[in-house]
Amino acid sequence: MTTPIPCSLLVNGERVDADVLPRLNLADFLRDQLHLTGTHVGCEHGVCGACTVRVDGEIVRSCLMLAVQAHGTSVVTIEGLSDGGEIADLQEAFRVRNALQCGYCTPGMLMAAQDLLEQQPAPSREDIREHLSGNYCRCTGYHAIIDAIEATADTRRRSAR
Ligand code: FES
Ligand code: FES
Repeated sequence: MTTPIPCSLLVNGERVDADVLPRLNLADFLRDQLHLTGTHVGCEHGVCGACTVRVDGEIVRSCLMLAVQAHGTSVVTIEGLSDGGEIADLQEAFRVRNALQCGYCTPGMLMAAQDLLEQQPAPSREDIREHLSGNYCRCTGYHAIIDAIEATADTRRRSAR
């Protein structure tokens, strides 16, 4: 299993053609081969959520997916989400409400939060906790993160009226 396999996919809207080893996971591919280091790696076994990315519109843990499994898909990383301005309000709410300290969990938190807000524009605090229950933060104690997501949901609903 040491022969690289050709792999073509969209990453943040741009086509990528690469040769990848069959055992390489998507998180390491994004970070090491594409230098998209906003996708963080914590536990490397699907527990912490730091490596969360979107694949074909669904959030997944990129440490649990092989890069070759992403062949033919569209992957969006935190860089794609933030550079496009899609989560500018969420990022600002995190900053204003001190919802990050070291920032290691933040890319995964933002990916998961945006996923929730797209599915559920008016989530309760319990809904937010549930949706983020697979994302660990060792710094903030979570309350500020929930506040920031709740505030963003309120602002988005008001501006949609
Ligand atoms: S690094 Fe993927 S879930 Fe922790
Ligand atoms: S801000 Fe440090 S792990 Fe969440």
